[in-house]
Amino acid sequence: MVKVKCLNPIAQVGMQLFTPDYVEVENMDDADVVLVRSADMHCLEIGDNIKAIARAGAGVNNIPIEECSKKGIVVFNTPGANANGVKELVVASLIMASRNILDGANWVKTLKDDSDVANAVEKGKKKYVGNEVFGKKIGIIGLGAIGGRVANACNGLGMEVYGYDPFISVKGAWHLSRHVHHANSLEEIYRQCDYISVHIPATAETKGMICKDTMEMMKDGIIILNFSRDTLINDDDMEAALKSGKVKRYVTDFPNQKTVNMEGVMAIPHLGASTEESEDNCAVMAVKQLMDFMEYGNITNS
Ligand code: MLT
Repeated sequence: MVKVKCLNPIAQVGMQLFTPDYVEVENMDDADVVLVRSADMHCLEIGDNIKAIARAGAGVNNIPIEECSKKGIVVFNTPGANANGVKELVVASLIMASRNILDGANWVKTLKDDSDVANAVEKGKKKYVGNEVFGKKIGIIGLGAIGGRVANACNGLGMEVYGYDPFISVKGAWHLSRHVHHANSLEEIYRQCDYISVHIPATAETKGMICKDTMEMMKDGIIILNFSRDTLINDDDMEAALKSGKVKRYVTDFPNQKTVNMEGVMAIPHLGASTEESEDNCAVMAVKQLMDFMEYGNITNS
């Protein structure tokens, strides 16, 4: 019997894969393995009984990796399983930010009576003139499962795509459209692009990488999209850059108290992977990994 603790509900299509040898338990103390989506495990007691933790998602910043390594607990994630869901939201947000869609839609809702609504079309057209993304330069930082898909999609929109990834060589980026220009440095991306989208993990090295110094290199009126993690951004510097107009819009899938109400911020409640398809894919991958490990000792994506 393998005892499973689910810290978050995981899609049924994944849970159904468990054979009768696997049983759900209430307490972590009783569990052999843990399934988790977004629950923060840093504040939990992780007993020596735990053999494996599977994260139904790509990022593992909610899991105390060092502590797990010391205890010999294997940690899995599901890279790529939700990449399409995130890519679609990035592309939608890119266009929404560029065309002032959210501001326009919210403004229409503030109109009080029929005569206002009748005038709204004319007023709104002037107030919310946007920019087309076609022909503009976008810098994609990180060309993994998500960044690579975003790069190809932006290429399809007719954008000039600059990609940068210290871990993927031009040869290794076979999945990318041949039209993606591989930048030699982050600085090239910062200086050249009209839009920047970050798709790299939250690590000590990436903490605060979008800050005063890097934003100073960027074009005035840049639009920055963050579907990675909020630690990548220095919030104080972002606030100043939004105030000065250096940054025209900051789109983030990680609303926090500091940035959520700033002018120019479009904050989304971490919806990148919140599609039925992505949730199903992550659940299936996570459960299969756990069972493969418990039954055959196989370790994938750890
Ligand atoms: C991820 O890291 O892939 C996301 O955080 C997934 C999620 O929304 O749970």
